[in-house]
Amino acid sequence: APQGEERKGPFGLVREEIDCVTERLRRDIFTEIPALERAAEYFFQARMGPWVFSSHLMLKSAGMNGCWDVAAPFASQAGEGRPAGAEGKRLRSTMLLLMSSALAPAPAGIEFLTVDTSPPSEHPPSVRRRQQRIAEITELIHVASLLHDDVIDSAGTRRGKKSLNAVFGNKVAILAGDFLLARASVSLAALRNPEAIMLMSQSLEHLVAGEILQASKWGCWMAEGFSRMPMSQSLEHLVAAEILQASMECGRLCFLRLTADAEEATSLDHYMRKTYCKTASLMANSCKAVAVLGGHKPTDCHLASEYGRHVGLAFQLVDDIMDFTSSADEMGKPAVNDLRSGLATAPTLYAAEEFPELLPLIQRRFKEEGDVEAAEDMVRRSRGLERARELAAFHAADAAMCIESFSPAGTAHAAEHRAALIEITHKVLNRKK
Ligand code: FPP
Ligand code: MG
Ligand code: MG
Repeated sequence: APQGEERKGPFGLVREEIDCVTERLRRDIFTEIPALERAAEYFFQARMGPWVFSSHLMLKSAGMNGCWDVAAPFASQAGEGRPAGAEGKRLRSTMLLLMSSALAPAPAGIEFLTVDTSPPSEHPPSVRRRQQRIAEITELIHVASLLHDDVIDSAGTRRGKKSLNAVFGNKVAILAGDFLLARASVSLAALRNPEAIMLMSQSLEHLVAGEILQASKWGCWMAEGFSRMPMSQSLEHLVAAEILQASMECGRLCFLRLTADAEEATSLDHYMRKTYCKTASLMANSCKAVAVLGGHKPTDCHLASEYGRHVGLAFQLVDDIMDFTSSADEMGKPAVNDLRSGLATAPTLYAAEEFPELLPLIQRRFKEEGDVEAAEDMVRRSRGLERARELAAFHAADAAMCIESFSPAGTAHAAEHRAALIEITHKVLNRKK
């Protein structure tokens, strides 16, 4: 068990439980289809030199079972972090377990610290187990979205390692993502809680919506996605109108306004909407789902959701800032990657308020020779990075305020976990990668 320094901090506080969740996740994704098993496991293994697909067996024999990267990128003291691996920081599940404790007295017994080996389709008996399932489902959805994202972005690397699509190809990467989503759905349905199902499903819808909002024009999207044929402006708008019509008819997707209009690409409001969908919604809805499963008051459930939303917005804003300030090595992907991918994020949108000559570059998605360099230069000469950071700080502070507004803690245990959730807001704001 972690001791001394290791116990401190939000990640240390729930580390053993996260290990259980991680182990359970790994067991959950094994399947009888070997290609998918390999693909899914690839994403969950720790960094240990050359890939060994049966890494769980190796870890077991090395007595390292459950020893996965939890907090390495956030680690403040030497030795706090586990080996940095492809599976990431588990920020989401950490937040969710802290939230579960922040709203309740200490969970009874040690039951919550053992690996839940029941099948994903089985109704978990205790509240804590059910909340752990939300943490697992959230990680599954998150990883699935990254697998699909790397296909959409044609990304060759993820967290400093080769991306799954780069290793196994797009088909396997898409199927692996679908498989994780399918497992998440089974596990979610087994909770037999309509509100939790609704919340988590909504975040799925938002993830896809965020990705669509990010695509500047349906035209490029359609052309890339379906035919690779360039479409004329008028045809593009015709297609756009058709899709808008269809989505209004089906009633559910009508908020997905088309982004063909050039104004939108330069609007901070549009950017924040996209950011909510792409990053904050999953955090908001999963935080609310653990509160709902805990049977807490509607006001506390709402505050949990708002906490997740604000942390998510701050997290993405910091990500967008780091795209300018971190090296390719630190990020595990090329520097100024957003501009290179045609994306204007908060720092660039703020910079355009000072340098209106940036607007046409944003609208043409930095695709002309020299656009990326010119845009980067203007961003650096503007207050864009500073203002984006102020906005991130604002959301981080709002997140902390949500925790302070919860109904009284009641126990020292809950109070300690609340403090950890507040500390997460600082860590998100000050993270370096
Ligand atoms: C990373 O963004 C991508 C996301 C946060 C969401 C991607 C969502 C989809 C692909 C929709 C499909 C969703 C599911 C659940 C299958 P990024 O490309 O800006 O950042 P990164 O690649 O640098 O991490
Ligand atoms: Mg990407
Ligand atoms: Mg992307």
